[in-house]
Formats: sequence, C-alpha cells, structure tokens
Amino acid sequence: MILVTGGAGFIGSNFVLDWLRSSDEPVLNLDALTYAGNMANFAALQGDARHVFVHGDICDRALLDRLLAEHRPRALLHFAAESHVDRSIHGPGAFVRTNVEGSFALLEAARAYWGELPAAERAAFRFLHVSTDEVYGSLASDDPAFSETHPYQPNSPYSASKAASDHLVRAWFHTYGLPVLTTNCSNNYGPLQFPEKLIPLMIVNALAAKPLPIYGDGLNVRDWLYVRDHCSAIRTVLARGTPGEVYNIGGWNERTNRQIVDAVCALLDELRPDPAGPYRRLIQFVTDRPGHDRRYAIDARKIERELGWRPAETFETGIRKTLQWYLDHPDWVQQVQSGAYRDWLARHYGSGAAAQS
Ligand code: NAD
Ligand code: DAU
Repeated sequence: MILVTGGAGFIGSNFVLDWLRSSDEPVLNLDALTYAGNMANFAALQGDARHVFVHGDICDRALLDRLLAEHRPRALLHFAAESHVDRSIHGPGAFVRTNVEGSFALLEAARAYWGELPAAERAAFRFLHVSTDEVYGSLASDDPAFSETHPYQPNSPYSASKAASDHLVRAWFHTYGLPVLTTNCSNNYGPLQFPEKLIPLMIVNALAAKPLPIYGDGLNVRDWLYVRDHCSAIRTVLARGTPGEVYNIGGWNERTNRQIVDAVCALLDELRPDPAGPYRRLIQFVTDRPGHDRRYAIDARKIERELGWRPAETFETGIRKTLQWYLDHPDWVQQVQSGAYRDWLARHYGSGAAAQS
C-alpha cells in the first residue's frame, strides 16, 4: 500500500479518489483533520476497504513508527501542511509546527523504517514530498518562469516553512540516501477546494451575492493547474522520477487575479444567471495582502521532457469543470460553510473532539 499524509485536504483527497479509481493498491490516509480536512470528501469511498483512514498528527513520531511497522507501505506521499498564505500571516506558528517539525518527524520515521527494509523493498521505497512554487519567491513580469534550479527566496511564513521542509527533504537524500522525490507545483484549482482560496471563494461568494474581494490592484499573476492534472503529475513522478530529483509542475496558464475573477463571473453568468445582474457587479478591490508576491510562473519542461507528463486541461476546460462541480454540490458547500463537516470528529471521538485540531 501507499501512505498518504494530508489526504483529507483539497489536493490529497483528489489524489486518493483518483488513485483508487485507477488502482486497487490500498491507501493509508493519515490526516489530523484540521479545518482544512474534510471526511465528506470520501462519500464515494464509504465501505471501501482500500481506503484506510487514520486520524492523527504527522508530528506524532510514535504514531508514525507504529503505522509504518503495521502497514509497511512501499511509498510515502507527503501532502499534509498548513497551506493558506493569509492564515500564515496571522498565525505562523502552526505553519512552522506542521510544515517544518511535521516534515522532520516524517523524514525521521521514514528513514528508520526504510533502513530496516529488506534490500529489494528498500530499493523500491520512495518518499514523495509535495511542495509549492512559492518557495522560489516572486517574479517580475518579464522574468523567465521558475525552473528547478531557481534560487529559493520565500517571502511569506507559509512559503518559508515549505522551503524549510524542501531543504530537510534534500538533506535526507544527500546525507542518508533516503530515496526522496520533491515536486514544486503552481496554484491548483478544482473540486473539493476549501472556499478560503481565490477561486472557490469567488464562486461561493458570488452565488451568495456577497462581495468578491480582490487584493490590491488585481494584477498579481498565478499559474493555474487543474487539481487532477497535479494528481496525475504526482503519480508520474512516483512511478518514474529519479530519487533526489526535483520536478516543477505547472499548467502553462498564467492569469492575473482580475482575469480569474472575471472568468468566474462570466461563466456563472452563463451557467447560473442572477436576475439582479452580472456577477462582476460584486467585485470589490480591497487592501493588499502584506508581502504579496507579484508573479509566479512554472517552467514545466523538465517533467515533460524526462517523464512525459503534460496537463490534460486548459484553464478554460478546467474552470468550467470546477464551476460545474460547485454548482452540482451545494450540500458540500453548505456543510463547509456552516462548519457541519467538522461533526465527523465529534461523531467518532465524542462531543469535545471537534474543537481539538
Ligand atoms: P489543504 O490545506 O487543503 O489540506 C491540508 C491537509 O493536511 C488537511 O487535510 C489537513 O487536515 C492536513 N493536516 C494539516 N496539518 C496536519 C498535521 N499536523 N498532521 C496531519 N495532517 C495535517 O492543502 P492543499 O491545498 O490540499 O495542499 C496539499 C499540499 O500541496 C500542501 O503541502 C501544499 O503546500 C501543497 N501545494 C498546494 C497547492 C495549492 O494550490 N493548493 C499548490 C502547490 C503545492
Ligand atoms: O502557488 C502555489 C500556492 O498557491 C500554494 O502553495 C498554496 O498552498 C495555495 O494556497 C496558493 O497560494 P496563493 O496565495 O497564491 O493562493 P490564494 O488562493 O490564497 O490567492 C491567489 C491569489 O489571489 C493571490 O494573488 C491572492 C489573491 N486573492 C486571494 C484571496 C483569497 C485575492 O485577490 N482575494 C482573495 O480573497
């Protein structure tokens, strides 16, 4: 089986669902179920013995040792993180704890486990670290896109904590020989994304006739990738990547935030017209995010050249699928907005549990 951390979050749950659609290899899913983890994402897997969920923290070394010894995974895919830049500005401590200390605990547990494996299993084992393009810092409008050798220049507490974890992963390869793979991906969008990030926030706010807040002048650029393309890239790197290597993953879809919000509004006008008028009437320019990176762009030629991966979706096809998913799943949105999705903890661990993580 494979061990996935953070598999109840946005990308992790898309990854688990996609994995089990195309493979019968079981997934051990370790997730602390913070506000970002949602068991409702696994409605389609109810009763499916291939999905083994463990509610736990990646900082808990004893738990990690026990899970590795009991389940003997052939690979560990590390998605778990605090992932929202705005939250990292207000409370950086949780980011250092999970993204740095948690990654350290995982690397140490993996190293101990891997070191005891028989030779063939030891050679086949992989530790795949899921990271972000934000570690490279910010680009000017005419700079070339980030390649794998771009210097690290993280600017937010979030990106600094992810950069620290990337460095630990690199060091565990060079010092101990742990067979690691690192992926640095651009902005994802798609089904099951928590509506604190730009695209789902704009969708749910527009449908509720709430303001659509654009930070600063709205001209910051991100490189958007449909989440299932990210998942297929991770499967590709796991299957064919070379240990110790870094692979940048991106969608060749640079857009300003203003273009993104305009696209969401125009599609909603088509799919769910509002009698009160076009959705763009709700746009509001608000105070900028402190330290807001101006532009990210990924040079994804290495993964294409060496591993033959390319995204299947363009921004136009991916955003249409995303919007349609949110329109088709009002119950998921309502549960997330009301906080009802967190009742899973209370149902499984008693009434005080929902407040724990
Ligand atoms: P997310 O915030 O939606 O999900 C994170 C998951 O990790 C949640 O299920 C949460 O409960 C879990 N978690 C948090 N702390 C934990 C802990 N201490 N122990 C165990 N589980 C814990 O994040 P996401 O957007 O799905 O991102 C997943 C990974 O991909 C992250 O490492 C992130 O840095 C990276 N990434 C994200 C994007 C993006 O656009 N969302 C782009 C590139 C890379
Ligand atoms: O680049 C990869 C990163 O993308 C991931 O590593 C992060 O986990 C993920 O959260 C994302 O980070 P961003 O900060 O780019 O994503 P966010 O959706 O928060 O913001 C996207 C852009 O939209 C950014 O320029 C800020 C802007 N924005 C965001 C929000 C939430 C707004 O203008 N208004 C908003 O309300």
